Amino acid sequence: MAFPEKFITELVERSDIVDVVSGYVRLGKKSGSNMFGLCPFHSEKTPSFSVSPDKQIYHCFGCGKGGGVINFIMEIENLSFPEAVEFLARRAGMPMPEQENDAESRKRARMLALNKDAARFFYEQLSTPAGGAARDYMAKRRIGVATAKNFGIGFAPDSWDSLRSAMKAKGYNDFEMADAGLVRRGKTSGFYDTFRNRLMFPVIDVRGNVIGFSGRILGDGEPKYMNSPETLVFNKSRNLFALNLAKKSKSGYIILSEGNIDVVSLHQAGFDSAVASLGTSLTPEQARLLSRYTNEVIIAYDNDGAGIKAAQRAIGILEKLDVKVKVLRLSGAKDPDEFIKLKGPDAFRNLLSASENQVDYRLRRVTEQYDLTVDEQKVAFLKEATDLVSELPNSLERQVYAIRVANMAGVAQNAVIAEVDRRRKRRLRAAQRLVEREQTRPEKLIQPGQRELRYDDPASAAAEEGLIRLLVMDPALAKSAALPPAEDFSAPALGRIYREVRTRLERGDAVSIAALGPALSQEEMSLLVRILDKPEILSRGDLALRDYIRKIQERKDARRQDTDLLALQQKMKETKGYRG
Ligand code: UTP
Ligand code: MN
Repeated sequence: MAFPEKFITELVERSDIVDVVSGYVRLGKKSGSNMFGLCPFHSEKTPSFSVSPDKQIYHCFGCGKGGGVINFIMEIENLSFPEAVEFLARRAGMPMPEQENDAESRKRARMLALNKDAARFFYEQLSTPAGGAARDYMAKRRIGVATAKNFGIGFAPDSWDSLRSAMKAKGYNDFEMADAGLVRRGKTSGFYDTFRNRLMFPVIDVRGNVIGFSGRILGDGEPKYMNSPETLVFNKSRNLFALNLAKKSKSGYIILSEGNIDVVSLHQAGFDSAVASLGTSLTPEQARLLSRYTNEVIIAYDNDGAGIKAAQRAIGILEKLDVKVKVLRLSGAKDPDEFIKLKGPDAFRNLLSASENQVDYRLRRVTEQYDLTVDEQKVAFLKEATDLVSELPNSLERQVYAIRVANMAGVAQNAVIAEVDRRRKRRLRAAQRLVEREQTRPEKLIQPGQRELRYDDPASAAAEEGLIRLLVMDPALAKSAALPPAEDFSAPALGRIYREVRTRLERGDAVSIAALGPALSQEEMSLLVRILDKPEILSRGDLALRDYIRKIQERKDARRQDTDLLALQQKMKETKGYRG
């Protein structure tokens, strides 16, 4: 391990898991000694994410993720182990011990430095004579100097190697630049600049790192945008353009638009909470990222077929999180940029205050599909609309919208309310049945829920889990019995965890979650936490330990007999075959 154990122990002690997790998850009510919240790692409406202040671990009953405070930061900030340690050390105000960084985080840091230097280079080009074309284009799009500076907008000159030679002079080599997506390898000659004659938008993450670029052609032409490829530091589906700026906004909501230019234009007009998904439709990861900074998202997509489709998809994704969603109706303009240019910031502000919530929006979409003067269509409308209303979690809301639907269709309010109720009950019953079926599946009680980690011998696995649990909770027990070798375990994942625990015990090292962390994969860590979260009574730990060991031995012998029997049967078959 790259860090001294004492350092990690102190770091974990100074990073209370409840404090750290609270920075990302609203933790509520205690149940027993645990606190609960909505899991930040998967979409859910009821909290199944628990944090134990006593054990200093987290565990989600929904998606199975779990670990100690370092694992949490690795998972939520998308960091490697050493990076997460550094992150927490900075948070706790602890100086980092002198240490060798691992190769990957060195590479990552180097790529971020290169990106930052490249962004600075592009920015500087704007004020050179070669930047004239870009300045003209910006003037045409009415992007001001202050805005350019705020976003770090720059210009990639119309040249095959201006960036490449500038970065060479700074000590970066072609391979590093190619890994970062800034240069490409030609078919015959060497490397050349990826971005040429384009207006450059750096993509900056919430920590202020330049992770990639988006370059727009000056004027018309194809492709309109070129983006950095996926790299060690750039993952389009996990980042949003301008979230680094929007996260500082005081507005209380985030405006989600489609285009970089829309975002720039909105910020310039004073709407400093605008972001854009990077040329993809909103992904669940981006939605979760948004939900960390706001609980209200206002969708301002383009006013065309594609924009409407994308908005509907985004609503579906955001609704699953604890986020209010509204949709803007940009009448008379094709996108927010054009709207602001045609009608001004005040008109946009009016739009914002009049923006529809998602139920209004979806209801309006349903309404537009039917001609309510035709009886057949009216019936189809009522089916779809009542179904939509029946999904609303709040009964008052259901009442209000049921009445609205009734008025739209010109039918009795009570009939619609009753229909909504009927559909809601049907929905609940179906959900109930599903849960019951899940709970009564016997193997469900022990299986870890991750496909890679199925137990072949659940009876043995239960004992293997128990043995690990006891040893981690009370390491002194290790001396009360002869511990079996890891080879006796039936489940490979449990065997790997157990081997680590055993080795550390033999060396007299700690077996806490933090100490085991670096040696285990994220899946193994989740499994370990799940194991520790199960009840165990420590008062007669020595007896329990021996029971577990005996069970593991028994099952191992049984498995061996099975294989012996199988081999025997196989042999008999072969002999018969030979005779016949
Ligand atoms: P738009 O075509 O709407 O671009 O694409 P825009 O930024 O609003 O630019 P203007 O106003 O037309 O000049 C929306 C977003 O989709 C991504 C970009 O992130 C863009 O901002 N995109 C678009 C690409 O990645 N590649 C493309 O070729 C086009
Ligand atoms: Mn656009």
